[in-house]
Amino acid sequence: METMKSARTNDAGDVGRDLSEQIKAATKDIHVRAENTQLMLSYQKGQISLPQYKLLLCSLYEIYKVLEEELDRNSSHPAVAPIYFPQELARLETLERDLEHFFGSDWRKCVIVPAATHRYEQRLRKIGAESPELLVAHAYTRYLGDLSGGQVLGKITQKSLGLSSKEGLSFFSFPGVNSPHRFKQLYRSRMNSIELTEEERAALLEEAVAAFEFNIEVFDDLQKMLSVATETADQSEGNVVKTSMFPS
Ligand code: HEM
Repeated sequence: METMKSARTNDAGDVGRDLSEQIKAATKDIHVRAENTQLMLSYQKGQISLPQYKLLLCSLYEIYKVLEEELDRNSSHPAVAPIYFPQELARLETLERDLEHFFGSDWRKCVIVPAATHRYEQRLRKIGAESPELLVAHAYTRYLGDLSGGQVLGKITQKSLGLSSKEGLSFFSFPGVNSPHRFKQLYRSRMNSIELTEEERAALLEEAVAAFEFNIEVFDDLQKMLSVATETADQSEGNVVKTSMFPS
């Protein structure tokens, strides 16, 4: 297979041939859009509520369940093997612990997810079965995000929800990663070692943008679910004024 070490410009701009640089450049604009969803803005303002957070955890649980099942199943695929770090990164068990903390031992019955989360899951299943190299785009989007802005979001969650300990916050904690900065460097170098054809590389960059888009759609759907829940509660209290928890 071709090794592609030459430095050339490409669709993502003049960012060299490293997949890690290309993927960052390709998702730069959509990262800004993700940061500016209502849900992420509430976060940045330190205004995350318990219902909001519980609903987000349910969707993250469903997403990581499928992502990690597909990564496990494809762990020896040549594109997946270099970025397969279940010890360091796996989030499914942390999410199960957090859900149990907030919903109790019956938490499995309480998991509710919107249509956008199901679409995201379906995409992960499809590429896991048909083009496992594209899982790299999804693993990058979630795990490197969790190790970047996600670390700040953990602190905000603790403060906003008034949690005294780290209980209910396992999702944000990576005991197997001593330095997120150094781990991200390792992850990028592993991404750069993956051998891809031009077509596979282009498809992977496109998939990374799609991965961000799936996340944005999940956030938007969650926001809508919460607004409807608040409106319904207001109406049942005889309040005719339609309000949302998150007025625009
Ligand atoms: C990286 C902030 C939401 C995915 C980063 C970085 C920051 C950040 C500060 C580090 C940039 C760097 O090291 O150069 C935030 C904030 C968010 C947010 C404040 C919302 C409040 C998201 C979301 C996703 C995401 C929703 C995807 C689902 C990523 C990824 C990286 C990253 C993949 C790694 C970029 C790279 O080094 O290639 N984010 N982020 N972020 N974020 Fe976010």
